[in-house]
Amino acid sequence: MINEDRIWQRLQSLSTIGHTEAGGIIRLSFTKEEQQAKDLVATYMKEAGLSVRIDEAGNLIGRKEGKNANAPVVMVGSHLDSVYNGGNFDGPLGVIAAVEALQAMKEQNIETEHPIEVIAFTDEEGARFSFGMIGSRGIAGTLTAEDLHYQDKDGITIAEAMASAGLNPDEVSKAARKPGDVKAYVELHIEQGRVLEQRNLPVGIVTGIAGPLWLKLIIEGEAGHAGTTPMNLRHDALTAAAKMMLTIETEAAKTGTTVGTVGQLQVFPGGINVIPNRVEFTLDLRDIDEKVRDGVEERILQQAREICQIQGVNLNVELLQRVPPVPCSELVQSAAKAAFEELGYEIFTLPSGAGHDGMQMKDLCPIGMLFVRSKNGISHNPEEWSSKEDCGHGAIALYKTIVNLAIQKN
Ligand code: GLV
Ligand code: MN
Ligand code: MN
Repeated sequence: MINEDRIWQRLQSLSTIGHTEAGGIIRLSFTKEEQQAKDLVATYMKEAGLSVRIDEAGNLIGRKEGKNANAPVVMVGSHLDSVYNGGNFDGPLGVIAAVEALQAMKEQNIETEHPIEVIAFTDEEGARFSFGMIGSRGIAGTLTAEDLHYQDKDGITIAEAMASAGLNPDEVSKAARKPGDVKAYVELHIEQGRVLEQRNLPVGIVTGIAGPLWLKLIIEGEAGHAGTTPMNLRHDALTAAAKMMLTIETEAAKTGTTVGTVGQLQVFPGGINVIPNRVEFTLDLRDIDEKVRDGVEERILQQAREICQIQGVNLNVELLQRVPPVPCSELVQSAAKAAFEELGYEIFTLPSGAGHDGMQMKDLCPIGMLFVRSKNGISHNPEEWSSKEDCGHGAIALYKTIVNLAIQKN
């Protein structure tokens, strides 16, 4: 009932949009590449018989009406934006599989009680503004005017980028849904880890999503001549930062579950013969247990301050976002389990280390996710890969899960 070839061919077509010389994908939010991807997916949504619109937060939405137009909607989706030089499955698979599920329903004349909406969320990754999940925050009603002040590398704010993409930033609150209006949100995604591969399973059911804490650390020291300043008289912001990064690695590793990453680093003034007086770097710290994550954060910052004292430099810490881990709902997990049983798939559950739009939707509706096996666990990398067959298994499990959620009168 699911057309694996169609899924694969659509994924291939999407992979040509924003293709980089380095072999990966770059589709940042509110750019022409992201728009092209949305335009293409809109044509697929129409082929699937969905009515298509863009909401005030830029989310692309395809809707299939239910028998009861007033019943709360079942939402299913993912995102089309990418990280810098990312792969072709993180996001697109979830959107394409959702469209495929709805197209299969149309082809088989399956009607459901509840309406169903396929959503391609705006900016899940946060690559452009170091913020992320903009579209899902919009739908959840938590996107604030202040959030729209986040800037990209060129100083363009989210509000300005929205305006240049033809959206009105003053109207984002109109994208918000009311809690009673959404029955559930389900997302199919690649695992981005190796658990399913090690278990030799094509698909799994997600139990919860680890919460990302994003900080910016700004270290201020003293610039000086690289040739004339003796080592013991320096206030080098970069050597202080380097020591902090080692602390991050050590403290995260200690818990066995926490992961910490420094993904952005800027050194000023940036001369080969000048001692750096200012360094800015980001920290992405995650754990499925919030207390454990925040404990690691505390130890890192404590040691960072000690390093600063020894080096004679100053530290400022800016909070970019603190997202709590989010459990997946019983409602979606049991709909997925029933789907797996029907399909004869082994029921296997696992947590998500990566963040996903469902985290923003948690107070709006019950959320849940399905994972598809990733080759070698690689993601946020052009080498990211899931087989055509596994994508097909994921799509059929998603299809059954959505039908289970949408068909019943409740
Ligand atoms: C998104 O992929 C994230 O987990 O940062
Ligand atoms: Mn993703
Ligand atoms: Mn991602």
